[in-house]
Amino acid sequence: MVSTHTAQKSAQVSITRVTQAFRSNGSDLAVLDDLTLDAAPGEFVALVGPSGCGKSTLLRLLAGLDRPLFGTLEVDGTPVRAPSPDRALVFQDPTLFPWRTVRQNVALGPSARGALKKSQQRIEEALELVNLTDFADSWPAQLSGGMAQRAALARALVNDPSVLLLDEPLGKLDALTRRVLQQEILSLWQRQRFTAFLVTHDVNEALLLSDRVVVFSPRPARIREIIEINLPRPRDTASPEFIALRERILGLLDEEGAGHDQPTRETERHD
Ligand SMILES: Nc1ncnc2c1ncn2[C@@H]1O[C@H](COP(=O)(O)OP(=O)(O)OP(=O)(O)O)[C@@H](O)[C@H]1O
Ligand SMILES: [Mg+2]
Repeated sequence: MVSTHTAQKSAQVSITRVTQAFRSNGSDLAVLDDLTLDAAPGEFVALVGPSGCGKSTLLRLLAGLDRPLFGTLEVDGTPVRAPSPDRALVFQDPTLFPWRTVRQNVALGPSARGALKKSQQRIEEALELVNLTDFADSWPAQLSGGMAQRAALARALVNDPSVLLLDEPLGKLDALTRRVLQQEILSLWQRQRFTAFLVTHDVNEALLLSDRVVVFSPRPARIREIIEINLPRPRDTASPEFIALRERILGLLDEEGAGHDQPTRETERHD
């Protein structure tokens, strides 16, 4: 059993008037345009928008990997200035070190902080949280795509992040594995209570997991609309309320995304 000593942390996140641009071929490429968005402690926020609008750019700013041109990003009132294990980022590609076992990959963060010894229990907990205990001594090459992504989640969770940043974490998985992992992310969030930002192209996924869905415009990203999802969990993808919300979000994306890659319109049932 996972022990209950685990710190359950969540953080207030404030994004205030953030503008970002990149220098590209001698001119400036505007990517984020005066974005203001707050997340309450423990809130699950989904971010959807046309491909290339700036979603990953926003997560990188929250992770502290880049700095904005203008505006501020704060976590519990403290400006984000550099990466921190407290703000973990999980990508579409699990990026595990192939020469390390699953356990050794999960131990990377504590090891880098010189806290390997006192983190042993937490490492085992993180493995258990993602159901990888039996594969702790396996090599990444021996894992399925879903298992590798679980290992990447464990590597983030081992640090007890107060903010979990998920950049299309299930984007490369088959539909069935994806559904299983959606439920697992939901249950991890319910147990650990981090504040979550999930970038996804799957509107069903956004609706299944989040408290609010933020719909962005094409680049430079502006907030098109923020939609509260006041449906009890677990959610029924076939309920009229769910379907109405999905149509509303897809409608917004259709309006905004002309000429861009479109998020998948999944009409199949997810239950
Ligand atoms: N470091 C960088 N230098 C120059 N341009 C960049 C850089 N990072 C991102 N961009 C550009 O910024 C824009 C937004 O990129 P970003 O990766 O944030 O989009 P996205 O919304 O995550 O797209 P997708 O849904 O396809 O993942 C793109 O036009 C991209 O080419
Ligand atoms: Mg992206």
